Amino acid sequence: MKHAWNAALVMGAVALTPFSVQSAEIGVKQAQLPDKLVVGHRGASALRPEHTLAAYEKAIEDGADVIEPDLVSTKDGVLVARHENEISGTTDVSSKPEFAYRKTTKTIDNVAITGWFTEDFTLAELKTLRAKERIPANRPANTAYDGLYEIPTLQEVIGLAQRKSKEKKRTIGLYAETKHPSYFQSIGLPMERRLVDTLHASGYHGKNAPVFIQSFEVANLKEIRQMTDLPIVQLLSAAGKPEDFRLAGDNRTYADIASASGLFEVATYAIGIGPEKNMVIPRDANNNLGTPTALVKNAHAAKLLVHPYTFRPENPFLPTNLRLGDPASPSQRGNLAAELETFLKTGIDGFFTDDPAIGRAALDAFPKKVEK
Ligand code: G3P
Ligand code: CA
Repeated sequence: MKHAWNAALVMGAVALTPFSVQSAEIGVKQAQLPDKLVVGHRGASALRPEHTLAAYEKAIEDGADVIEPDLVSTKDGVLVARHENEISGTTDVSSKPEFAYRKTTKTIDNVAITGWFTEDFTLAELKTLRAKERIPANRPANTAYDGLYEIPTLQEVIGLAQRKSKEKKRTIGLYAETKHPSYFQSIGLPMERRLVDTLHASGYHGKNAPVFIQSFEVANLKEIRQMTDLPIVQLLSAAGKPEDFRLAGDNRTYADIASASGLFEVATYAIGIGPEKNMVIPRDANNNLGTPTALVKNAHAAKLLVHPYTFRPENPFLPTNLRLGDPASPSQRGNLAAELETFLKTGIDGFFTDDPAIGRAALDAFPKKVEK
């Protein structure tokens, strides 16, 4: 499905920022990337511990067009790749006696969390830790890599993407997410300017750059739009509301943002949305894929790309009728390719997957299937 990616419908939407005024084509696709994208979610996180250079490299080798670092800050202001700032689930920090005293309880996005937090560690200290598999019950083979890999910085992830782009002679894009942005602003470690400056300094400029900046919050994306015309994607959850809305007493929810009118406002600062996948195709009463919603159609009407998350190969993450072997086994792989094919039929513009090899094969097979 091809779209005329122009900004005609964006005109007249609310609160145009300096960059959205200057940029006549919000919604334009990046010239160096394919029309439909396989995004290596946290790298090839089904096959290596997430957010490690090994996971990102595996994603690239397996055919990902784009690799996805989630970002948090260190104490000394370095952006590093972790899904959350509490790191006991994905590193060996709890086994390090020298850091035992740093275990603490904090409230992050209105939730009390106990553990070790990146903002309490310098980069040099974080570099002494090693990554481990987050969900060993689902991914027991990944535990063979526990203890091998460092926490990478954003700069190192960029370096990998650019090095592999040259090696593979194809552009490897970046899909960088600010995690807990309001929280990091509240402790004096805002990530937005550092992210934008790092991307600019690394050669990413303009609306066609092979990079996406994503967030579950809204205000920080609007702030970033004032700093750059790099592509921005608004992430959406199937429930709840952005943390910055909660803090501001804003009554709107993710459902409001995902409404037909809400999407036109998103288009004033973003080129796409990253919805939870069941916002595109909800599960039915039997936990099988149900009837697609109007989200893709409505987003495309607002000239927004749609990149749903997260497509995972193991049975517990799949619809019931796509589970294979022992349906109760947490590590048994099911028919992820069939789930992806069903989603591709809705017209999505790409997807986040933990297993880019399966995603690549499904996407490459898809046009042939629809031509039949
Ligand atoms: O950023 C898209 C997707 O990764 C959002 O989910 O929680 O894995 O960051 P999460
Ligand atoms: Ca993410």
